[in-house]
Amino acid sequence: MAEKQDYFIGIDLGTTNSVISWGVVNRTRKFEPKVLQIGQIGADKKAQRVDLLPSVVYFEEDSYAPFVGEFARTDAYKSQPQRVVRSIKSLMGSGEMREIGRKKFSPAYVSSLILNQIRAAMKYKGIDTDDVVITVPASFDDNMRADTIEAAKRAGFRVTNLDGTPRDILLDEPRAALYYLIYLQRIDEILPSVIDLSSQKTILIFDLGGGTLDVSLHHVQADNDALDVSVDDIAISRYTRIGGDNFDELIAGFFQKEFEEKFNLSIGAIPESYIQHEIKSKLLLEAESKKREINDTFTQGLTQKATMERLIEAELKVEIHLPNLYDNKGYKRKIAWNEMTSIIEPLLGWNLSRKDVERFDDLTGEDANNIIYPILDVLKKAEKRIGSVPEIDAVFLNGGMTRFIPVQDRLEKFFGKKPYTLLDPDVSVAKGASLYHYSLHQGLKPKSVILAESTGIEIKGGYVKNLIPAGTVAPTPKPIQIEGLMIPEGASQIAIPFYRGEGKESKFPNEKKLEQVIKLPFTCKKDEPLYVEVSINLNKTLHFRGHLISNPDIKIDIKVDDVQSNKPSSTQPSALPPINHPTKIGPELDVEETVKNLFDSLASSDGAIKQGIEADILKAKNRSDFIFPIAEKLQKIPPTQLLMKKASSRRAILMLGALGAEFPEHPGVQNAFNALIKVCSQRINVHENNEKYLKMILGMGIVALGRLKNPAAENLLLQILKDPKMLPSIKGTTIVSLAKITSSVNALSVVSQYICGREILLRNTSAWAIGRMGSRDSAKPLPVNILKKSLEELLYQTERETESVTLQMMVYAISELSDQRNPSRREVFSEQYAKLSQQALERLREKMDARHKLTQDDQVLKKTIKTGLDMVYGRQLAEEQVRALLIMRSKLDQIE
Ligand SMILES: Nc1ncnc2c1ncn2[C@@H]1O[C@H](COP(=O)(O)OP(=O)(O)OP(=O)(O)O)[C@@H](O)[C@H]1O
Ligand SMILES: [Mg+2]
Repeated sequence: MAEKQDYFIGIDLGTTNSVISWGVVNRTRKFEPKVLQIGQIGADKKAQRVDLLPSVVYFEEDSYAPFVGEFARTDAYKSQPQRVVRSIKSLMGSGEMREIGRKKFSPAYVSSLILNQIRAAMKYKGIDTDDVVITVPASFDDNMRADTIEAAKRAGFRVTNLDGTPRDILLDEPRAALYYLIYLQRIDEILPSVIDLSSQKTILIFDLGGGTLDVSLHHVQADNDALDVSVDDIAISRYTRIGGDNFDELIAGFFQKEFEEKFNLSIGAIPESYIQHEIKSKLLLEAESKKREINDTFTQGLTQKATMERLIEAELKVEIHLPNLYDNKGYKRKIAWNEMTSIIEPLLGWNLSRKDVERFDDLTGEDANNIIYPILDVLKKAEKRIGSVPEIDAVFLNGGMTRFIPVQDRLEKFFGKKPYTLLDPDVSVAKGASLYHYSLHQGLKPKSVILAESTGIEIKGGYVKNLIPAGTVAPTPKPIQIEGLMIPEGASQIAIPFYRGEGKESKFPNEKKLEQVIKLPFTCKKDEPLYVEVSINLNKTLHFRGHLISNPDIKIDIKVDDVQSNKPSSTQPSALPPINHPTKIGPELDVEETVKNLFDSLASSDGAIKQGIEADILKAKNRSDFIFPIAEKLQKIPPTQLLMKKASSRRAILMLGALGAEFPEHPGVQNAFNALIKVCSQRINVHENNEKYLKMILGMGIVALGRLKNPAAENLLLQILKDPKMLPSIKGTTIVSLAKITSSVNALSVVSQYICGREILLRNTSAWAIGRMGSRDSAKPLPVNILKKSLEELLYQTERETESVTLQMMVYAISELSDQRNPSRREVFSEQYAKLSQQALERLREKMDARHKLTQDDQVLKKTIKTGLDMVYGRQLAEEQVRALLIMRSKLDQIE
């Protein structure tokens, strides 16, 4: 997207309203986003231009000519609701068609009609470009995104690059709102006293529109340079179809019930369904308009005269007047503020509070249908990802429905402080999108996005095997290999049901998305292991690919956005049972008995018996079943006993880590994690006088935690590092595990402190850890400022360091951080930094060349420097160098 462009366009394709913002660079060379008015046929068929185009389409009788906007929303919806399509955004990705008369229309097609109207507005203004950014809810999944792209394509917007690769035209709505927020701070509309974005802040965006609720949590930092913004997604709520429409339906339902009671009739029993539709649409429109009217009056009351406070609640009334609603029968009454608020109360989730994050996994579908559940969802996901529920610096509201005072009150109560509202919640997303579009053309790297939800497939026993966890950064740099799947003996076809959600089983909160059936040309005579890998592209489309290990010609290739729901017949074998490394699989063992023997033998000193049992477990066919009982036993052993049985406990701990890492989806892994956390947390009581205990037990616990790769361990590990009495060797192990688990800003900055420290071991491991966390293969891109800081420390220390092994690690880390082969890194680090790295490595090379005698370590160092120089100059690496680099990346993985 680097070609020259005069206009920068952001389109908010909303459920209720769509908005387009355009921006140009003004005379003071500042970029300014404005709203572009859109032409529409308004009420009473009058042509007019509006900021907010109702996302409603009416298909004219006979001609099927589409009318988009206010006429469709009101006049047509009241008289011919069956020819009107509203809230089409809620159907995106569903594959459901809308039937109008004899024709059927896809959601992508209907959306493209709205976009056509917007395109016409661009042309009217003389903006002739097909290059735009369109926003989608952050929680939109791959199918929904694919449909949005399809709509854009149909409307004539460019969705592929010149070389045919998909063009990055979508932007998450909360991100757009954040870009607008950053802009408002730059133009001094939001003062640093409200929130100061010059240092990193944790911000929650609560966006409640007409049809969707998007809650998301971000790290945001921005200074005055327009491109130096960092917006990282921490967590995104699951796709939630809650919006103004639901509030309106509750209110309309209340009106309907009253009307029916008054005239003793049932609208559902009216034989002509079009009349039923008409009555319902009239009630719904009335509900929406009264909701706004009463709310606006209430809001004015609040601002004009704050002291009126809640007094107004009882007195404020609006009139509903629908003469001749049906068969000469009308509906008229006054509705008071507190009556209205009690009707919509079920949507406010008053039974939930912040504390419910703790029991989030136990909440049921009944707890989910309100505006609070997605907030808990986000806090829980953040906890899973970064180790604890984060402190939120500010909550920003966006979307028309956040104007509704009961929503604001509920959120204030929930968060314990008043959320802020963006200047103009109707247009901030569109404006933010045009700001983003402008930044893209200025060279801002398109931001990677994270997955809102985990995706998995159902395996035997009703479990869901996680393929890609929520929070994964898209696109994945390379495919992720999924181990442990096989087709069971006797199967001639398999069904692969895909699920979305954080649960471990194929029921709430998980939601089945689609099911693909793969037919085999033969019946399996034995269990057939599968090779499977998955990848995600920038539009969050999941690609599931694999083949039979014994017969690579039998392939599986599923793009999740391509597949229509495909119901399996009842004779199918139930999906895929888990396996692991088929070559290692041995006989079934009695789990209870083996674990008992293992722990009995831990007390005895007979190493041979112990090792025999361990080997059995590691080779057993059912070895994942051992996670749970070993974890349970380990948790029950008091610390002093763990100490006595040190060597054997150490083995059990390691085994737990190894098993847990191999079976990350096993429901017992959480127990394994807790057991290990317990082992590690007990350090406080014992570490003063028992160094050996620490080395043995704690060290192994930390290694095992690193293997489990559970991000929730990050906090504990950071705490261990902060303990001033902790042994350097344990700190070294901790740094290694930390680098395996996370590449968070916090971890990187803590680890960087050791680069210039006195302990050589820590200088060594921390350099490796920085290299690993900052490598281009690391899952998460890190903010520039923190990378720069680590690099500065490294450059400073390489000048002073004398140990070859440590220098090797430092050179490795420097070259990973300023790897010029990596386009994203090239953009993050200015040339100046690459140059500093080049100079430092050149100097080191000269130093080494001047040495007469080279030890083996020195030789390796020289090679590392050569590879490092190639990387920081952006030269291609030879195969041998690539291999050496990979070995370096996994170097300390082997510590045991
Ligand atoms: N002043 C107001 N008081 C109460 N509700 C309002 C007010 N203004 C707008 N709304 C409600 O806000 C909703 C529309 O919000 P918005 O325009 O942000 O939605 P959208 O962007 O089209 O939808 P989405 O973000 O879900 O795709 C409607 O339900 C509308 O009734
Ligand atoms: Mg919106």
